[in-house]
Amino acid sequence: MKDFIDRHIQKLEDAFVKLFQKSLEPGQKLMSYYRCALMAVETKFNILNEEFSLVHERNPIETIKTRIKTPDSIRKKLRKKGLPLTIDLIEKNINDVAGIRVICPFIDDIYVLTDCLVNQDDVTLFEKKDYIARPKENGYRSLHLIIAVPIYLHNEKKLMKAEVQLRTIAMDFWANLEHRLRYKKDINDETAKKIAAELNECAETSAMLDSKMRQIRDNIETNV
Ligand code: GTP
Ligand code: MG
Repeated sequence: MKDFIDRHIQKLEDAFVKLFQKSLEPGQKLMSYYRCALMAVETKFNILNEEFSLVHERNPIETIKTRIKTPDSIRKKLRKKGLPLTIDLIEKNINDVAGIRVICPFIDDIYVLTDCLVNQDDVTLFEKKDYIARPKENGYRSLHLIIAVPIYLHNEKKLMKAEVQLRTIAMDFWANLEHRLRYKKDINDETAKKIAAELNECAETSAMLDSKMRQIRDNIETNV
């Protein structure tokens, strides 16, 4: 009798594990497609960096960081938009599941890389937000692109979206610190306002630094 019950429980457990894995499969597949898209976009940037270092003897890219949105923050974003959690809705409505941040030494590197990327014939540009030309009210600067790139699977080609953020080292420094400080909520309104004004001032200072460094580079280049 005990053997019979044990076998039965084992069978139920196996069925549960199978069902659980099956329900996870589509989501895991989708996340893997986004990881492939990040690899494809990162390779595009690495190729541009390699070529620039050969032709122009300078690297327009300092670092590249990639990240996939966590399931929890995908769920929160869909809920904010009043949408249920389904694979189709994720692909259609969330543009930044795959995110790539490209950090450049100089501002003009950002525009050169952006032009090179969006002119590639397998890159589709959906959206471009230039927070360098028009910084956010808090001082945030970066260039954001929403693009789609093809990924080639064994029996199909899929177009996957990705968000690209291009910034200088100075913009990245500011954004990282501002992001950390934003979560310190236990401060009163007056102090918060003062901090916001100070952060804005820092953003202006770092923008000045970017433009000064570019001038110095130009001077060096015209004098060699
Ligand atoms: P969400 O994607 O829902 O945030 O809205 P959106 O698509 O309108 O945002 P946007 O393209 O302006 O910015 C998306 C991303 O840029 C954020 O997830 C951050 O990584 C970055 N970002 C935007 N604004 C700020 C800012 O004020 N400070 C910092 N540190 N990062 C920002
Ligand atoms: Mg976004």
